[in-house]
Amino acid sequence: MRTRVGIVGGGPAGLLLSHLLHLEGIDSVVIEARTREYCERRQRAGILEQASADVLRAAGVGDRMDRVGLVHEGVELRFEGERHRVDFVELTGRTVTVYAQTEVVKDLIARRCADGGQVLFEAEAYAVEGIDTDAPVVRFRHGDADVELRCEVVVGVDGYHGLCRRSLPAGASRTWERTYPFGWLGVLAEVAPSCDELIYARHDNGFALHSMRSSTVSRLYLQVPPATDANAWTDDQIWDELDIRFALDDWKLERGPIIEKNVTPMRSFVTEPMRHGRLFLAGDAAHIVPPTGAKGLNLAVADVTLLAGALRRWLLDGDQRAADDYSATALRRIWRAQQFSNYMTTMLHTDPTSNPFDGQLALSQLRYAATSRAAATTLAENYVGLWHP
Ligand code: PHB
Repeated sequence: MRTRVGIVGGGPAGLLLSHLLHLEGIDSVVIEARTREYCERRQRAGILEQASADVLRAAGVGDRMDRVGLVHEGVELRFEGERHRVDFVELTGRTVTVYAQTEVVKDLIARRCADGGQVLFEAEAYAVEGIDTDAPVVRFRHGDADVELRCEVVVGVDGYHGLCRRSLPAGASRTWERTYPFGWLGVLAEVAPSCDELIYARHDNGFALHSMRSSTVSRLYLQVPPATDANAWTDDQIWDELDIRFALDDWKLERGPIIEKNVTPMRSFVTEPMRHGRLFLAGDAAHIVPPTGAKGLNLAVADVTLLAGALRRWLLDGDQRAADDYSATALRRIWRAQQFSNYMTTMLHTDPTSNPFDGQLALSQLRYAATSRAAATTLAENYVGLWHP
């Protein structure tokens, strides 16, 4: 099998890249280990920066997002029994869109299929070879067959645990990492959101987040110890703890059936460079942010938007400069998102393992964001996204 760009991973990054390349007339094959149903169902992020929404629109895959996505003009910070609104529009002129990653994936799969694109599900890549040559190869198992995919370029968008980053030669890259001493218990509940905008809450018991998926489905998160088993929490315990952490005199959290529970570990991770020879990394394969800044999906969209332009120049015009600059250019945005995600995480979580002094600093940071226009603007402009890809 032969293609110009072999894409390992059929998440939002791989699917969007394949679609953007198709718009440029560049042929690609997407290799995804899971089933289509799994990819379309897994619950992930929910916030699109305005620039990410613009990328989807410009690529002709924003119609459903524009119909059912919820445009949000701010968020609420809640702590010490008080609420403080951060007004994105007033502070930055921009908004974000609440539209689940899983919906973006559905839209992209449908579009790739309608355009005759090759997205192979249940295709498990097990080797990436020849990345230092002009003819890299991806080997994968599909059904009973071992397939060899010959490419001009391979893009690894197969996530943090994927094959591609591990296929870089030893010593070819450097990594930075921080793990956090907590995780998030996320629930999807069949109940109308109890708020119009997201609530990021800090309480002595830990962080809580009220997000949403639609006017009838809420998405809520609780800070929990890192190795928590989601099933160790009963639904009542979850609602009781959410009540405690969001408590406000004039506010009530509506309860409803919990239809899904999962625990996410929290990690910051960067690998550099994001390219070796003819293998490029993008999205979670290259970097992870803790979800408190809502940046993971947006970084993936930005990476592949940048990469699609760089590959067009290389493969269609023979100009390699943008491909050579890809890693450095992408990493500037990634490090900004890393710092912002770390800021949001440390400010909003309680850390039982840290010096209590740090807890007081975090609380002061939160008060500052809630009361100073300068500090609120810093939060807002990072949250809505500082740069267009
Ligand atoms: C979500 O809706 O899943 C969500 C929203 C904001 C975050 C993280 C997750 O910071």
